[in-house]
Amino acid sequence: MRMNYFILSEKRMYSTAVKMMLVDLKKSSKIFDIVSDLKADLALAKGTVVIIGPNSSNNPYDICQEITRTFPLTAVLLLLNKDNIDYKKAMFAGAVDVLDIESDEAEVIESVTKAEKVVQLKLEGDSSRDDDEKEGKVITVCSTKGGVGKTTISVNTAVSLNKHNLKVAVIDLDLQFGDVALLFDQQINQSIYDWVKQSYENGDKSIDRYVLHNKSGIDIIAAPTQPEFAELVTGEHIAYLLETMKKEYDIIIVDTPPAFVETSLVALEHSDIIILVATLDLPALKNGKLAIETLDLLGLKEKIKPILNRDSDSEGMTKEVVENVLGVKIEATIPSDYRTVISSINKGEPFVTMAPRKPVAKALMKLSEQLVNLKPVGTQARKQEKKKRSFFLSKNKK
Ligand SMILES: Nc1ncnc2c1ncn2[C@@H]1O[C@H](COP(=O)(O)OP(=O)(O)OP(=O)(O)O)[C@@H](O)[C@H]1O
Ligand SMILES: [Mg+2]
Repeated sequence: MRMNYFILSEKRMYSTAVKMMLVDLKKSSKIFDIVSDLKADLALAKGTVVIIGPNSSNNPYDICQEITRTFPLTAVLLLLNKDNIDYKKAMFAGAVDVLDIESDEAEVIESVTKAEKVVQLKLEGDSSRDDDEKEGKVITVCSTKGGVGKTTISVNTAVSLNKHNLKVAVIDLDLQFGDVALLFDQQINQSIYDWVKQSYENGDKSIDRYVLHNKSGIDIIAAPTQPEFAELVTGEHIAYLLETMKKEYDIIIVDTPPAFVETSLVALEHSDIIILVATLDLPALKNGKLAIETLDLLGLKEKIKPILNRDSDSEGMTKEVVENVLGVKIEATIPSDYRTVISSINKGEPFVTMAPRKPVAKALMKLSEQLVNLKPVGTQARKQEKKKRSFFLSKNKK
C-alpha cells in the first residue's frame, strides 16, 4: 500500500523544507496551505502521514485532534516553534510526536518513520477487520419440477450481479446432471467431487484448487463429471463449502436439482434468499405449491422470492392465477424467448452479455438489481454499494 504524505503549514518555507527532506527519502508529498483542502484530500486517501507545521490562524493541536478523530487511518506529526510545544496537548490531540521545527533532520526523519509505522499498523488492523466482516450472501435457485429454468436463471443472475462489481461464485448442486459449466463454456478440470475426495476427506478441506475461474468473471464449483459420484457429496460438505466461501465471495449462487435432496436442503437452510422458479403450467404450479409448503415447514418461507419464468400470452394462464394458486406474490417475471435462450446455451455465453438488449436479458438484469436493491454502479462506489446492498439482504435474513 502506497503511503501518502501531506504537509500543512501557512508558511511555505516550512512546508517546502519538509517536502525537500521527504524528496531526499524518495517520498513524494503534497503541500496544503489551508485545513479545508487538507481534509478534502484526506477524505479520499487511505493511509496518510500528516505533518503539521507552524500555523498562526489555527491552533495546530485542534487541527491535529480533528484529523486523528475524523480520519482514523492517519498519523499526525507536529513540527512547531519551540514556544508553542506542549507535550500534554500533543498527546491529548493524538499526535504521534511533536518536535521543534528547528530540530535535526535525523530527529524529524525518525519521527516520520514512527508515524509511518503507526499508519501501517492501523492499515493492517483495518484490512483484517474487513476480512472478519466479510459475510457473503447465499442465493439458492430451486423448484421441485424439472426444466423450469433454474440453471438459466442461476447463470444469468450470476453474470448480472458480477456486473455490479460483486464477487460472485456459482455452485452446481445438481450433482448428477448439472450443466452450469456447460452454460459458461467452461471445461471441468476439477469438480465438487474432487474437492470432497482429495481435499475435504484428507482433512485439508481447502477449496481454492477446485474453483474454476471462468472467462465471464464468475467462479464455479462444478458438479461431478459422472452421475455416480454424486452420492459421495453430503450435506456436511455443502455446509462447510458455503460457510467457507461466504468469507471469500459477495454472492454465492446455488443451482439445485429438481428435488429437495439432502444437499439442496442444507443449501436452502444456509441461504439468505431462495429463488423459487415457477412456470405457467399446471404440473409446475402443483409442484410449486408443494415446495412452498415444504419450505414453510422448514421455517424458510420468509426467504422465498417467487419468480415466474417463460412468461408468455400463449400459455392460457396468467401471473394472477399463479399467485392465487401458490398463495404468494410473484416478485419478478421473465419472458419466454426460446431462440435467445437456446442460442446462449449453444454458444456457452450467458444471454445477459450475449444479447443484453433482449427483453429476457433485461428481465434478468432487473432481477439482479432487485437482489442488490440498487442501480448499476462502478468500482469506485463499491463500498457504498455494499452498505446499500446489505440493507436489502439483511431484510431477508432470518
Ligand atoms: N425464459 C425462457 N424462455 C425460453 N426458454 C427458456 C427460458 N428459460 C429456460 N428456457 C429453456 O428451458 C429449458 C430448461 O432450462 P434450464 O435448464 O435452465 O431449467 P432447469 O430448471 O435448470 O432444468 P433441470 O431441472 O433439468 O435442471 C432450456 O432448454 C432452456 O433453453
Ligand atoms: Mg438445471
